[in-house]
Amino acid sequence: MPNITIDGQPVTTVPGATVMQAALAHGIDIPRLCYHPELVPSGGCRLCVVEIDGRPNPTPSCGLPVAEGMVIRTRTEALEEMRRDIIDLFVSDHPLNCVVCDKNGACDLQKYAYQYNVSQTSFDFELSRPHYFDDNPFFVRDYQYCIMCGKCVRVCDEVVGANAIDFAERGFTSYIATPFDVPLAESSCVFCGSCVQVCPTAALLPRQRIGRGREWELARKRTICGYCGVGCELEYALTPSLSQGEGRGGGQQILYAQGHPAAPVNGELTCVKGRFGWDFVSQPDRLTQPLLRKDVAFELGLSDEPWELSDKTVLQGKGKLDDFTPVSWDTAAGFIADKLAGIIQRDGPDAVAGLTSARCTNEENYLFQKFFRAGVGTNSVDHCARL
Ligand code: SF4
Ligand code: SF4
Ligand code: SF4
Ligand code: FES
Repeated sequence: MPNITIDGQPVTTVPGATVMQAALAHGIDIPRLCYHPELVPSGGCRLCVVEIDGRPNPTPSCGLPVAEGMVIRTRTEALEEMRRDIIDLFVSDHPLNCVVCDKNGACDLQKYAYQYNVSQTSFDFELSRPHYFDDNPFFVRDYQYCIMCGKCVRVCDEVVGANAIDFAERGFTSYIATPFDVPLAESSCVFCGSCVQVCPTAALLPRQRIGRGREWELARKRTICGYCGVGCELEYALTPSLSQGEGRGGGQQILYAQGHPAAPVNGELTCVKGRFGWDFVSQPDRLTQPLLRKDVAFELGLSDEPWELSDKTVLQGKGKLDDFTPVSWDTAAGFIADKLAGIIQRDGPDAVAGLTSARCTNEENYLFQKFFRAGVGTNSVDHCARL
């Protein structure tokens, strides 16, 4: 276990840790723009430079392995001046549109510009990458806000394995591109949105989020993705208040979904369904309670109104909501139980089969198969492994 000193504080860290990891693990915050705990350090932004006893020059801490006895300083006057200059350089080709920017309040560049009191560049401003790509239903790429930290490229390569994007051209005109600048849908992109999640600025933004509220106004809701059995944890960002909500019943509406760093299963990463496939939640025709066809409800005495099925397509699953009447869960479960019991009594237990869902929990699926095997008496039970 290497023993080191950071800003005068003795720190014992794990072998192989970097100075950045050791510092963060002990609550010492080193400024950083291109570092991400899940990615191989690139040393690109230089904001994380630290001074080490015995080394002539400041060194980026994100890729520097600790060594026994290292004495590290993270906040000297010279380092802070260097960082201020780096931010100054970043904003020399980054429009400071913060007042109208959707990343306002969640932008790492803005955070450091504030901390280092950089309200405008002291260099000549020149936009190096005006590229704007609006080529897919999920997110917009507005590279005027890109600081070339490379996190999107690394997450796409190292974690997702899609390799859909990379650095194109060189020097001042370099930018992040798909091969031959093809639209994302024609690249190997799987639209997981991991690049959007790790981007520190407004260069990559979920389409549904744009222009719909400032970050600190959005409500947050942590939940588990309902799409498959992996159980990824999601955090939904919701419209600011009920009065601005446009969702079902005037309620809040989801603006975007993201992974949460503390999520044990997935961390910040999700697949395309979890990150972008949530719009069903506020669809007006989404089923949220049991429905019985009106003629059945009448037969069961649950309704006084006789009703006749006018359009037989309802039997093929094409019925309109008007053809049904809402009933309680107890009524629906009782109706299903009676029907099942009748079939089993007449034709035996193998005349029925159960199909359960990946959207259920393990416990629910266990109970379901137990009910069919031990209760009903049939092994005809199956599961949709993925949706
Ligand atoms: S990306 Fe960040 S620094 Fe740039 S305009 Fe938006 S909030 Fe400001
Ligand atoms: S959405 Fe996923 S696959 Fe597509 S570029 Fe971003 S990280 Fe790569
Ligand atoms: S698009 Fe975002 S994550 Fe990618 S290099 Fe630019 S700033 Fe970094
Ligand atoms: S965070 Fe270390 S160089 Fe960018």
